[in-house]
Amino acid sequence: MTSTPIASKIIAKATRVSIDPAHIEYTSDRQRNAVEALINEFTVHPQMLQDIKANFMEGMKKGLKKDGETMAMVTSYVMGRLDGSEVGSYLALDVGGTNLRVVAVHLTGGGEITTRQTKYRIDEKLKVGEAKALFDFMAVCVDSFLDEHQIVVRGDTQFELGFTFSFPVLQTSINRGTLISWTKGFNASGMVGKDPVAYLQDAFNRRHIPVRVAALVNDTVGTLLAHAYNHPDTCMGVILGTGCNGAYVEKIENIAKWKGDATAKEMIINMEFGAFDKERAILPLTMFDNKMDRKSVNPNKQILEKMIAGMYLGEITRNVLLNLIDRRLLFEGCISPDLNQMWTFETAYMSTIEADGSATLHATRKILESTLNFSSTTMNDRQIVKLIVELVGKRAARLSAAAIAGVLEHTGSWKEKAAIGIDGSLFEYYPSFDTDIMDGLEEVFGPTVRQNVSIGLAQDGSGVGAALCALLAAKHSG
Ligand code: BGC
Repeated sequence: MTSTPIASKIIAKATRVSIDPAHIEYTSDRQRNAVEALINEFTVHPQMLQDIKANFMEGMKKGLKKDGETMAMVTSYVMGRLDGSEVGSYLALDVGGTNLRVVAVHLTGGGEITTRQTKYRIDEKLKVGEAKALFDFMAVCVDSFLDEHQIVVRGDTQFELGFTFSFPVLQTSINRGTLISWTKGFNASGMVGKDPVAYLQDAFNRRHIPVRVAALVNDTVGTLLAHAYNHPDTCMGVILGTGCNGAYVEKIENIAKWKGDATAKEMIINMEFGAFDKERAILPLTMFDNKMDRKSVNPNKQILEKMIAGMYLGEITRNVLLNLIDRRLLFEGCISPDLNQMWTFETAYMSTIEADGSATLHATRKILESTLNFSSTTMNDRQIVKLIVELVGKRAARLSAAAIAGVLEHTGSWKEKAAIGIDGSLFEYYPSFDTDIMDGLEEVFGPTVRQNVSIGLAQDGSGVGAALCALLAAKHSG
């Protein structure tokens, strides 16, 4: 088994250059009508945003009452708070996005953190193969990371590792839990109902790798902790990347299903909000969402996630484009063989298209003609593609705003100074995702929310957060 490190990409964040539908020179009334119908279907109107938020809050309450609800509202067993004074060295293993990352985290006190990290690509076959092979791969990556960075332990001590495993896991302690279901294209066999920590520890032990899995962490919980290390007023951690989800600080008295330590005052809840509205009662799903859902490895699950997260936005857009092509309303009805394949329209292309402000939509043309191999495109084609991309991207940001607003209203945090740490490629790179979210929050709460609540990039939350969680676990057991 090999583990190949990959270099990380640095992409500058741009802002959206919107296209005004009134300025599109439609080729026919049929085309205009089709585009107007799409605008209608994909727009999350202010009232809809409010309704989704209200329904979302109901979902939160149900999940806090008992297990097995649509939003799992997982108790993370993270109760302590950190104040930046903590010192120590920990390892973190982050699994659950496009890449696997191993991070060595050194806390020097005074809020100072230094990290060294290596990313490894997870082969698509491993994601859907046997669980043991996937966990063996994780252990091999940690081993080669220790080699690469010449990190050694003295005597028979062990490294303490925080394991960020970003899937719905019902936690039973700080380093125990059972997988509820796979998400984000993972579907390794035989894991549902099993403890990921036991699998990982076993893989380390069999290879005599001196590592102890001290904490099991969701990336949202890690992001919250990492952001709080420097921003003590952090109330929420959010991931908007390959998948999406949020975690927030809840009062123990509000968690009716909590049967543990009664002296605890508060606990971080991993909401698993990507699963919201399994019942399809409120989200404005279109036939393009349904088509993508049906073909995914987890149909009928993670409905909100599939409307927001980076893994899915390109595929939804592709479905809309195919529909217009089949009706001969785009590209004169001609399709490129590339676009005919599922998942070929990457969400990263959407970022480029959203930022394209050139008079001829040059960057959009390049993606369509050079990357996706359309033989030629007209200005009208490119304008319509740009408009569709904006509809899908903006809907995702506004639905994220509805979820965040649900938490802010539930906790009342919008009324006071509060920080929200957000990590993930979508938030980091997708043009205007952050401003769309803030606009949505303002729609719900009015202008004060801008003064009170800040949303900021919590880069590498999962790595640092996992280390902080390992530290908290050690504090508790010691
Ligand atoms: C998982 C969550 C995770 C989120 C973001 C979702 O698919 O269920 O546990 O936090 O992705 O990575």
